[in-house]
Amino acid sequence: MAEAATFSARARSRAEKLLGEMTLAQKIGQMVQIEGADGQVPLALRQQVASGAIGSVINEVDPAAIAELQRIAREESPNGIPLLIGRDVIHGFKTVFPIPLGMAASWNPELVEEAARVSAAEAAEQGVNWTFSPMLDVSRDPRWGRIAESFGEDPLLTAEFGTAMVRGYQNGGDRQLISCLKHFVGYGACEAGKDYASTNIPDTELHNVYLPPFLAGVRAGAQSLMPSFSDLNGSPPSGNRWLLRDILRERWGFEGFVISDWASIAQLVVHGVAADDEDAARQSVVAGVNMDMVSGAYAGHLELLVKADVVPVPVVDELVCELLTAKYAAGLFDQAKRRYSFCTPTAEAEDAALRAAQESIVLLKNSDGLLPLAEGASSLCLLGPLADQPDEQLGTWVFDGDVSRSVSLKQALERTEGNQLQYDAVLATSRDRSHSSFAQACQRAEASDVTVLTLGEEAILSGEAHCRADISLPGSQLALAQSLKATGKPLIVVVMAGRPLAIPELAELADALLYVWHPGSMAGPAIADVLFGRVEATGRLPVTLPRSVGQVPIYYAHGKTGKPATPETIVHIDDIDAKAPQTSVGNTSFHLDVDPSPLYPFGFGLSYTKFEFSDFQEVRATPLGGVELSALVRNIGDRPGREVVQLYVRDKVASVTRPVRELKAWQLVTLEAGASEQIRFRLSRDDLSFYNGRETVFEPGGFTAWVGNSSDADLSIELDVR
Ligand code: GLC
Repeated sequence: MAEAATFSARARSRAEKLLGEMTLAQKIGQMVQIEGADGQVPLALRQQVASGAIGSVINEVDPAAIAELQRIAREESPNGIPLLIGRDVIHGFKTVFPIPLGMAASWNPELVEEAARVSAAEAAEQGVNWTFSPMLDVSRDPRWGRIAESFGEDPLLTAEFGTAMVRGYQNGGDRQLISCLKHFVGYGACEAGKDYASTNIPDTELHNVYLPPFLAGVRAGAQSLMPSFSDLNGSPPSGNRWLLRDILRERWGFEGFVISDWASIAQLVVHGVAADDEDAARQSVVAGVNMDMVSGAYAGHLELLVKADVVPVPVVDELVCELLTAKYAAGLFDQAKRRYSFCTPTAEAEDAALRAAQESIVLLKNSDGLLPLAEGASSLCLLGPLADQPDEQLGTWVFDGDVSRSVSLKQALERTEGNQLQYDAVLATSRDRSHSSFAQACQRAEASDVTVLTLGEEAILSGEAHCRADISLPGSQLALAQSLKATGKPLIVVVMAGRPLAIPELAELADALLYVWHPGSMAGPAIADVLFGRVEATGRLPVTLPRSVGQVPIYYAHGKTGKPATPETIVHIDDIDAKAPQTSVGNTSFHLDVDPSPLYPFGFGLSYTKFEFSDFQEVRATPLGGVELSALVRNIGDRPGREVVQLYVRDKVASVTRPVRELKAWQLVTLEAGASEQIRFRLSRDDLSFYNGRETVFEPGGFTAWVGNSSDADLSIELDVR
């Protein structure tokens, strides 16, 4: 860390020196980001760069255009300051990885770091030097389209993957990207899962759930951060001084810079907290937003606000110095000789995408060991609207993906099955309500040994502003599955979606069920590899799969309540006696018309083998408090496998209510058939601390710990931690 501190100290001193040579207008120019011109460098853009009126361009990825823009900035602008070239490199660039929700299902931070490193190398080759990623919004509402971009419902999982991405983006030498933690903060709690809607989050939940991943990202050295569109408890983060100065800079020591979201500064007027763009600009600059993404509020009003002494010069100076420091620290001033070119996915990049897709696949059901299929032993019928969609499988937030390099499941299966493969999309899209091709599809299924049905949602049905009030399968996809089930042939269902879908009927009728999210460029080969057991099924759910949208929000780390439901207290709506008196049913926390449990719980996923947990015990108290635990994990199946050994803890008595259990650690353990391994976990006092509404505290006392392979783990021990 000492070297990094020296490095940033050097960058800071160079920035301060340069700042001293700049006019107010030139300083404000650094705080302005405008959109590129789609590979062109028109006169107006040329003049803006040459005059020093902008500090960054977003959405330009053409190498020649970027090279010319940087040349103008370096050679013609008053201070020769290079531009930040920003792009949403969210889960890949040319080579597309699974959506972040899918990558989270790997529970493998190293794999996610590699994905970020590959993505950075591809984007940097074309001249991009800044990505608006990782997205660290804890997401517990599958109605929200942006759950696809998240790492799911758990703060620890989100923090681990977010920091892995920061490392992957920023540690690639001259092929690095400045990372950006977004959307600060609590965006995923938007009311009704409707994008941009209000987020009303209690202080304890804000500190215990939504802030921790961002603190982890700051500690990992992320160089930029983006406030969210939504208002947080009535105060939109783009003008929220408590968030951007008190928390982010004062308490956390963040030394990077803050970029607004798309025109979110001007949106302070729409929110109704700013009278006009001038007022919005004032609020954002005072709150600590360094750069205005395309709203024009800073370019249009900041100079007058400073000259009228409404905004003090030192406020602008500090924000500009932070921007310049980041440009020096990223080496942008030293890249004059850099040449940019269109990147072509390498075999290594596509191998990384294949492994990420393989590890993102979650096996939810496997009746009678139907999977893995024996190669060549069965004639296959491949059906469904998502079985041959090389573009849709890339998922949301893909601007630069090379679809020509994306391999669908149909293309992958044809490589091994040849013309033996029966294929039919049956439906034009996932939303197609027709039944007209069902008969033909059933004939194909009857003529084959096994049917693989690929359905779910296209990419457009998730992502920003693509929210659904109904999270069941769109169109007549369920009816198609039911018709195919009626043929009596084994039915393997592959669900491709950008969110958890409510699929209880589908799960009931499938003989085997794979949840693959949107797996990216190598979706086809990855799914085929898992189907035939060329790789193990290793994915585990990073988010709860509900039975019904009516259960939402439903997540494992929920409160116990004073009246938790038990099997004895639950009554189903169909079982209520006529004229039942008022207090004869209910009285605990459940819905009358749906089972209180999720369809599949957080952390769940099957393997082709089976693991057993035993001998869970406290080994010893550790210095400085805390405990060391151990458990034995055994592969009791007949083939190798990798288990995600998960450790959960509940604080049994605390000064505020605590979740029924929280993930505190996990380990990936690969074991040959019959092998076993002693797994050790350490729990520090910090791990057991929480925010109680006033401060972060560790409260000694009784805890329950569980170890297992999902949030339903039932092997537990009681601890007394002092
Ligand atoms: C969008 C998103 C943000 C993205 C930005 C630039 O509206 O909210 O995540 O990075 O604009 O595209």
